[in-house]
Amino acid sequence: MNADHLLTNIAQLVTPSGTGALRGGAMRELSVTKDAAIAIRDGMIVWCGPRMDWRGIAMVETDLGGRAVLPGLVDPHTHAVWAGDRLTDFDDRASGVDYESILARGGGIRHTMRTTASATHEELVALALPRLQRMIRAGATTIEIKSGYGFSWDAELRQLIATQSLRALVPAELVATMLFHVPPQDALERDAYITTAVSEWIPQIAREHLATAIDVFIEREAFTCGEASRLFIAARAAGLACKVHADQFTAIGGTELAISHGALSVDHLEASGDAQIAALARSQTIATIVPGVSLHLGLPAAPGRRLIDAGAAVAVGTDCNPGSSPLYSMSLALALAVRLNGLTPAEAIIAATANAAAALRSTAVGRIVSGMRADLLVLKSADWRDVPYTLGDDAVAQVFSAGCEVLV
Ligand code: NIG
Ligand code: FE
Repeated sequence: MNADHLLTNIAQLVTPSGTGALRGGAMRELSVTKDAAIAIRDGMIVWCGPRMDWRGIAMVETDLGGRAVLPGLVDPHTHAVWAGDRLTDFDDRASGVDYESILARGGGIRHTMRTTASATHEELVALALPRLQRMIRAGATTIEIKSGYGFSWDAELRQLIATQSLRALVPAELVATMLFHVPPQDALERDAYITTAVSEWIPQIAREHLATAIDVFIEREAFTCGEASRLFIAARAAGLACKVHADQFTAIGGTELAISHGALSVDHLEASGDAQIAALARSQTIATIVPGVSLHLGLPAAPGRRLIDAGAAVAVGTDCNPGSSPLYSMSLALALAVRLNGLTPAEAIIAATANAAAALRSTAVGRIVSGMRADLLVLKSADWRDVPYTLGDDAVAQVFSAGCEVLV
């Protein structure tokens, strides 16, 4: 076998076992190969295993000095393209005003919608670029980005097109999702908004490949299950996947509705109870937890431990956004999933790699096996557990995206 590049002297080569999303007890099956090597050709992994078993020829060989190597992290939930800030909300919340009240009085998400809608394409790209670079430095090599701060179609399109432009600027794969975040405040306008979204926007998104999924925020201050159902039907007809922000403050049926539409993932789940846990465990839908929100808003932690024990497939994301989770590091997101949601270190790594990839319908990343894209993290240490263990610094020394070391 020939390779462009052979990475050797890997103290631990760490990868989720099996294929696809791992659920229940299988979320602890992390495979660790000692004294390993990885061969890369054309940006893909073409061989990996114990170093002594390598029989091929590599053009370049790099000795990693006895450090651990993991798959690049997959962030399945961000809102990385926005303008303006939410520092006043942060101050207000610290003085006792809650997130939902700020939203109900026209602030919060609605404030970021106004600032984002008035930004140009160039401004949105310039603001998002350093955020993505921070995320990559912390270990993310695939990053989902939602729209949802546009509100008007023009402004939503500008967010989605900013994501397209960012693809050429960052060494990570960007996956676009169109988010229906909050509806118009007037009841009649609400209905017209959904009707236009169903008949015009969603078909255009699919036709022009502007996103691969839609997402709907189902909550008292956002969309109802009835409205979301109309959007999901249109998305499925157009060949787009469905995602949902559900059970963040109240379990009003968003999880059950999304599962009934075969949703790819249900995200948040801070207010999920036994019924939602059981429904997710019976489904193929990924349960994506976002512990940065629990930390930043002081919400209960999503029941990660109970979801896994019930047999669900759990993923973890940063939910990077200015209002509920100003968190840029997937390494910290998975470290918080251990502290706040009760995941074991192995489960947290699987939630941030194989399961997060499944939450984006990606079969190209999430594991270190032959045939996957060579998205890899080289740690500062020899032990993979330093990633979930470390707080406030990243255990990541080097990031490889499609076989090339990224310098951001
Ligand atoms: O995932 N909950 C809804 N949407 C985002 C927050 C967006 C914002 O506050 O700006 C979330 O938490
Ligand atoms: Fe979100």
